[in-house]
Amino acid sequence: MSPDFPVSSKMTARAAGGMQPKITLARCTPDALVCRGMKLGVIGCGKMGSALVEGAIRSGAIGASQVSGCDTHRATADAFAAATGATLAADIASLDADTFLLCTKPHHAAAALAALPPTAGLVISVAAGLTTAWLEARVPAGCRVIRCMPNTPALVGKGAAAFCRGSSATEADADAARLLLGSVGIVVELPESLMDAVTGLSGSGPAFVYIMIEAMADGGVRAGLPRADALKLAAQTVLGAAAMVLDTGVHPAALKDMVASPGGTTIAGLAELEKHGMRAAFIEAVHSAARRATELGGS
Ligand SMILES: NC(=O)c1ccc[n+]([C@@H]2O[C@H](COP(=O)([O-])OP(=O)(O)OC[C@H]3O[C@@H](n4cnc5c(N)ncnc54)[C@H](OP(=O)(O)O)[C@@H]3O)[C@@H](O)[C@H]2O)c1
Repeated sequence: MSPDFPVSSKMTARAAGGMQPKITLARCTPDALVCRGMKLGVIGCGKMGSALVEGAIRSGAIGASQVSGCDTHRATADAFAAATGATLAADIASLDADTFLLCTKPHHAAAALAALPPTAGLVISVAAGLTTAWLEARVPAGCRVIRCMPNTPALVGKGAAAFCRGSSATEADADAARLLLGSVGIVVELPESLMDAVTGLSGSGPAFVYIMIEAMADGGVRAGLPRADALKLAAQTVLGAAAMVLDTGVHPAALKDMVASPGGTTIAGLAELEKHGMRAAFIEAVHSAARRATELGGS
């Protein structure tokens, strides 16, 4: 079974053979050429806007001098400028940009798009649930759109994001989205019909994992560990297990088998999880969240 992310074949073979895998990072490689000459205008410089721009600048994908931002909150705009080195504009129409990163809350998006200059070439939107058709109906004539679904771990550079192209978006537009989102985590391009599924999995998924971490820490406390240590150990265990899956490319079932020795502690714990329907609970949680995204008008 091959993973959908880049892995070293040497590593996969070694790990599958039961040897200690060497960890390597599989990340989107920044290609500054994609953003050469781009003038990026950030509409809404809050949590997601600043995380994406900080990531893109840190990775070398774009230079601070190519970015300008605006935000209705003066303090938010100032914090963005201080963190990124980008310039600030008084409003959307004054942004020195051809590409716009729409990072307002969804209910502010219509007003923001109505203020775009007629010369706008591309809008990359991270606003949850706003479809490419909805965006295309509100951007100036000839302006292309890309719709993204990032998740909150992007704020700490560990995001999992998907994007889809609007009807006229080009390969270069997709590269720009890949570069921006890839600077704060991993990114995949998917058809728009799958964006609600993405919302159910990586969009809502952090909350499912937080509950898992909290519950594992409770288990540790029940077994006698101090609360703070239990929480740290539980969170790092999830981080480490995720890195094993992403960095080795070995299927999680095989990794699970590697640590469940006959008659041992891990298989005893696994039997409890199966008894309580953990597997079905996660499947249903993701599916339910995806269905809810559709109900809310996702795509
Ligand atoms: N945070 C995440 O992890 C996450 C994950 C997935 C998707 N997203 C998406 O990312 C978008 C932004 O989320 P966020 O958490 O970054 O929100 P945020 O921190 O509230 O930032 C949004 C900023 O946009 C400003 N704004 C509103 N209208 C504006 C306008 N016309 N021109 C300029 N600035 C304007 C807001 O100012 P006011 O406070 O004055 O309104 C606010 O400072 C949302 O659409 C959300 O669906 C976020």
